[in-house]
Amino acid sequence: MVIGGGGREHTLVWKIAQSPKVKEIFVAPGNAGTARIAENLDLHPTDVEALGEAAKDKSIDLVVVGPEIPLALGIVDYFDSLGIPVFGPSKAAAQIESSKVFARNLMEKYGIPCPEGKVFTSYPEAREYLERQQSPVVIKADGLAAGKGVIITSSRQEAIKALNDIMKAKIFGSAGERVIIDEYLNGRELSLIAFTDGRTVSPMVPACDYKKIWDNDKGPNTGGMGSYSPPGFFPAELIEKATNTILLPAVRAMASEGITYKGVLYAGLMLTDRELLTLEFNCRFGDPETQAVLPLLKTDLVDILLAVIQGNLDQAKIEWSSEACVGVVMASAGYPGSYKKGLPIKGLNEVDKDLLIFHAGTKLGDDGTIYTNGGRVLTLVGTGKNMAEAREKVYSNISKIYFDGCHYRKDIALREIKRINSKS
Ligand code: AMP
Ligand code: GLY
Repeated sequence: MVIGGGGREHTLVWKIAQSPKVKEIFVAPGNAGTARIAENLDLHPTDVEALGEAAKDKSIDLVVVGPEIPLALGIVDYFDSLGIPVFGPSKAAAQIESSKVFARNLMEKYGIPCPEGKVFTSYPEAREYLERQQSPVVIKADGLAAGKGVIITSSRQEAIKALNDIMKAKIFGSAGERVIIDEYLNGRELSLIAFTDGRTVSPMVPACDYKKIWDNDKGPNTGGMGSYSPPGFFPAELIEKATNTILLPAVRAMASEGITYKGVLYAGLMLTDRELLTLEFNCRFGDPETQAVLPLLKTDLVDILLAVIQGNLDQAKIEWSSEACVGVVMASAGYPGSYKKGLPIKGLNEVDKDLLIFHAGTKLGDDGTIYTNGGRVLTLVGTGKNMAEAREKVYSNISKIYFDGCHYRKDIALREIKRINSKS
């Protein structure tokens, strides 16, 4: 049973369905894409008890949790208490994402490289500290804020406004009771996501996410408008360095704090001219990174999930393809603001057969038509022997899919192609 209903979860279901060990898959709540390969259950990912009932009722052998909110609520502890095998970190372990202050304290205590920064619980102290900082600074709300809790400010005025918004106007509610004020880092950003059983850390292929809504990184932040893997600026030596200086130390640090970290650990990294630093940890697979990463996984995902749960990841042989993968998100008009739902999606069957379409905000109508049902509607994914080929596949097909007001970025993985071209 996979919990969640976005593009990440459709990708997980697609990959899990390839395992010869799997007979039947349920998704809660899923979407129109998962409905084709699994049975959707009309249950909310935070309705932990109802999910537990459904899992007992259907004799589920393995639960995989996609989103952070149920993890932060302790869904893994709950399934553990029911004796149902579940993939994901416990509530205590999920603090690495659910509290940025927890993550920062951990990094400082155990020497994991992160930007210079300071935690504040008192507004006057935070305000006084701001007066002494050079712009730009980054202001972060402690708790979960649907990916919106980080504000990059380019002047003192903007910084004070952000601080007021978070600590006084409480725009993120209790998530803003504590803030972190970080130095602003300039560099290249990437996501390195790893499987871990609390002892062994096995990184996936790295990926880059595009957070802004418009081309050339303009406009407001979104959940992610596209992704590609692997970024050429992050070769095997850097993956090893990140594993040894960030991912493994984080898992060991958690163990030293008495917390076994099992599941997926996602490090948001910044490679500056001089250093490799951690911007954030997430306690789950990335979205949309998963859509560009799992198509490159050659190993049976279920074997890996079970190895993590059983604590023998060191025995698992995990293989990745050396191909390239590009995923471009198609979004509803108005997203990341308000948008309409229920618009028919056309052309899904016209896309070349070697592409993957991972659904997110989609819904199957009674008439068999697929309708939009969210801001990020789907991710179109192409895999190729190199980035140019993968990218070309997506962009030569994407206009075949259409719904009223649909939009997507035209520059996903473009900088990677430019980098390769400038070398040759
Ligand atoms: P986070 O949720 O901490 O990853 O922050 C969201 C986004 O804000 C990151 O993906 C970065 O693009 C940006 N960001 C966070 N911290 C910093 C920093 N110290 N310097 C520059 N950009 C940052
Ligand atoms: N793509 C960013 C995230 O999953 O948090």
